[in-house]
Amino acid sequence: MSQNSTGNLTEYYVKDDNISNKQEKYTYESLLLTAQYLLERISVKPQVGIICGSGMGCLADALDNRQEFPYETIPHFPVSTVDGHVGKLIFGNLSDVPVVCMQGRFHYYEGYPLWKCAMPVRVMKLIGVTHLIASNAAGGLNSDYKVGDIMIVRDHINMMGFAGNNPLQGPNDERFGPRFPPMNKAYNSHLIDQGKELAQKLGIQDCVHEGVYTCLGGPNFETVAELRMLKMLGADAVGMSTVHEVITARHCDMDVFAFSLITNICVIDYECHNKPNHEEVMDVGKMRQDVLKLFVKKLVEYISQK
Ligand code: HPA
Repeated sequence: MSQNSTGNLTEYYVKDDNISNKQEKYTYESLLLTAQYLLERISVKPQVGIICGSGMGCLADALDNRQEFPYETIPHFPVSTVDGHVGKLIFGNLSDVPVVCMQGRFHYYEGYPLWKCAMPVRVMKLIGVTHLIASNAAGGLNSDYKVGDIMIVRDHINMMGFAGNNPLQGPNDERFGPRFPPMNKAYNSHLIDQGKELAQKLGIQDCVHEGVYTCLGGPNFETVAELRMLKMLGADAVGMSTVHEVITARHCDMDVFAFSLITNICVIDYECHNKPNHEEVMDVGKMRQDVLKLFVKKLVEYISQK
């Protein structure tokens, strides 16, 4: 790196306060202000929160009576920087159930700290959301999986947590949840059963699995050795999201259902020359949008009747 004429190196560093790790964390009160901003503007309080994964923004298209809030208009909200993540909070009805959809989520690789990536989950909690449905695009590690399959998340492996990075790090506010939240029932087993039953009813049981998701920081896809290790550790699918959102949701006692759309099969063989890429991830999302919309809609109906 060369210095400029004034000997100043700072111009070579990204200076963006919105994604700085050093900024003050959100307080309960600041998140309440964000929640109040939304509550003053929406006509119905949502019961279910839905996070749309890469290429799955179409899930929000199924909502009736929509009210849309671009992220940049919501006080304290981060903004999406990734293709395929539009960057809107959309309120509306899905089968007459009030829901809120994140069309675009925040990733660690964008430069956001995990607590900031997961901030919208706490805002959802404060506006009355009781159930979170988190979707993601993922690479399939389990050899039974095919591109376009759905994996209902039974459990996760928090790889970033192993490295000491967790969205709950720092002072704990008991108004959200306890200092040491359990994570052994992270994914609601009734919702998992319902997801599997739904797959039968919709006749898609052959392409719906139940498995373990793991999240790495990205943005690069994994090496062959990394994928072999993850597989050996018991992961069935790998992605770059969801785990920190789920931890944050469970911390504040939301019920969670998550599923992965398998957008590529992980290459665990040095002789294979396939290269995963973001375009493929987006294309598979589009290809499976109808079935995903139906699956989420039926799940929301079930949640509202419980
Ligand atoms: N690895 C990590 N994240 C992903 C992948 C993958 O293979 N596919 C979609 N998201």
